[in-house]
Amino acid sequence: MSTILARQLGKSYGKDSGTVRALSDVSFTIASGEFVGVMGESGAGKSTLLSILGAMNTPTSGDLQVDGIDVYALKAEQRADFRREFLGFVFQSFHLIPYLTLLENVMLPLTPLAMPTREKRARASAALQRVGLEDKGGRLPGEASGGEKERCAIARAVVNAPPVLLADEPTGNLDTRTSDAVMNLFKGLNAEGMTIVMVTHSSRCASYVERILKLNDGRIANTAPDPKTRFVRSLDKSLQSSSGCGTSDWQAAVD
Ligand SMILES: Nc1ncnc2c1ncn2[C@@H]1O[C@H](COP(=O)(O)OP(=O)(O)O)[C@@H](O)[C@H]1O
Ligand SMILES: [Mg+2]
Repeated sequence: MSTILARQLGKSYGKDSGTVRALSDVSFTIASGEFVGVMGESGAGKSTLLSILGAMNTPTSGDLQVDGIDVYALKAEQRADFRREFLGFVFQSFHLIPYLTLLENVMLPLTPLAMPTREKRARASAALQRVGLEDKGGRLPGEASGGEKERCAIARAVVNAPPVLLADEPTGNLDTRTSDAVMNLFKGLNAEGMTIVMVTHSSRCASYVERILKLNDGRIANTAPDPKTRFVRSLDKSLQSSSGCGTSDWQAAVD
């Protein structure tokens, strides 16, 4: 379970005359297991919102509850534990450590866990396999393509099996084919129950999500999903989980 409740979040950067109001009065609920897209123009506050959801950026006003935990009421150390336990992150610029191999990068989030190195290695290998990089674990990031680095960053984000995955423009640097592969990976993780919140500029990527939170100048511009889309998507999800197939072939019939 990982219900996210944002209440009247506001965020200002800077002081006095130099203040930038990045978010104003942002409220929404994301249910456990949803796949939500965050869209909006550059500067609309998307990254700010994602970093607040990621327990990394204290809002100026409002509060954030995840499973009833008031995230910003936690002390810094508890908040770090919360982040480790609940959240996986994928950043646009990957943030891979250049002198560690892809496998070692994926092992990093397991560092604080009391677990034999052999098992950490096995888990990281399984995560790499999940993203189709099983034979590339020994490479350094500098020896990997953009798509491979992105997939490695996703493996690292999910190696802990966090209930919530946050991704900021995860396909921003990828070609269409690689970005479709990443979206299908996200869809698979979501079908297994992971809640995903993804910032994207791309309408192609947005077609994979169940619901869009649109930001306009730091405010929510829409929250209500198109009821028909929601119906078809929820049907699609239940079909996928029960039979391994979706509605895309016969969506035209519903339309
Ligand atoms: N650390 C920061 N310090 C000052 N201003 C910031 C900071 N981060 C973001 N901003 C400003 O807040 C607004 C929203 O930025 P951001 O959340 O990055 O938007 P988006 O991701 O939608 O492009 C912009 O005007 C941006 O310049
Ligand atoms: Mg941004």
